[in-house]
Amino acid sequence: KTVAIVGCPFSGGQGKPGVDHGPIRLVEEGLPKQLEELGWKVHFDGHHQFEEISAENDPPIGKLKNPRCVSRVCEAVAKAVGDHAKKGQLPLTLGGDHSLAMGTISGTLDQYPDACVVWVDAHADINTPETTDSGNIHGMPVSFLLGLGEKIPEFSWIKPTLKPSRLVYIGLRDVDAGEKRILKENGIKAFSMHEVDKYGIGKVVEMALDHVNPNRDRPIHLSFDVDALDPTVAPSTGTPVRGGLTFREGHYICEEIYETGCLVAVDIMEVNPSLAEPDAVKQTVAVGCSLARSALGETLL
Ligand code: ARG
Ligand code: MN
Ligand code: MN
Ligand code: MN
Repeated sequence: KTVAIVGCPFSGGQGKPGVDHGPIRLVEEGLPKQLEELGWKVHFDGHHQFEEISAENDPPIGKLKNPRCVSRVCEAVAKAVGDHAKKGQLPLTLGGDHSLAMGTISGTLDQYPDACVVWVDAHADINTPETTDSGNIHGMPVSFLLGLGEKIPEFSWIKPTLKPSRLVYIGLRDVDAGEKRILKENGIKAFSMHEVDKYGIGKVVEMALDHVNPNRDRPIHLSFDVDALDPTVAPSTGTPVRGGLTFREGHYICEEIYETGCLVAVDIMEVNPSLAEPDAVKQTVAVGCSLARSALGETLL
């Protein structure tokens, strides 16, 4: 079994500098070696070099900021993830902002058309070019993957092959009004922090998997935004929201998904080492690594 680390130092899907340094810090922290110690063969041939498009050559399309840059980077990521998956490797993508998931999930669906997605996040990231307030594309990747909203020619490489029924959310607590409407209209299953409080994380993960993967026979793509965790657990991220998952709840999700034996791809997104005091940054980077280890089989006993 081989894990391919896809380091994506990219920040163009949102406005705060520093998130492009997330993957570098996660690797420096020793993630490749930690995964080897879990018994994985680790393929890592350096962080991806993206040909960035300068801001003056990338004016907004409608409200979308840096659209050409985000599109081209995500297309390259889709190819990298898809190629690793094709070789039977498990791509572990380190972000970078969450717009990258347009690429990672496209790559996964290319190789595994019947895959389902477990999206762990404070946010639904399902705004369309019409509903977005911020214009930040990291708040929109899911709508592009589902094929919702206005079609932007620049993003025509995305095959909108994700079905609403193959997507489930855990951890939501900051969902825009337009996003709430989209979730309802498309019947998308979401377990917010309210459901985590009500049922406990054990039951929530079971219900989430029963929804997208009732027979536990479909490939699973886990897309984990570290802002799903409470800001006391993962402070160093661009859009923190109070009332999040505990350290254990976050890791439990990863452990359960690993245990299904269906996991085919993981994203660890939105670690921004520029947004907190050094100790808080260290804590967030360490949590990013331990989430990845839990998803790749680390157990407590
Ligand atoms: N909903 C807000 C927006 O559209 C926040 C999105 C935050 N996304 C993230 N990947 N952290 O801008
Ligand atoms: Mn590679
Ligand atoms: Mn988020
Ligand atoms: Mn996100």
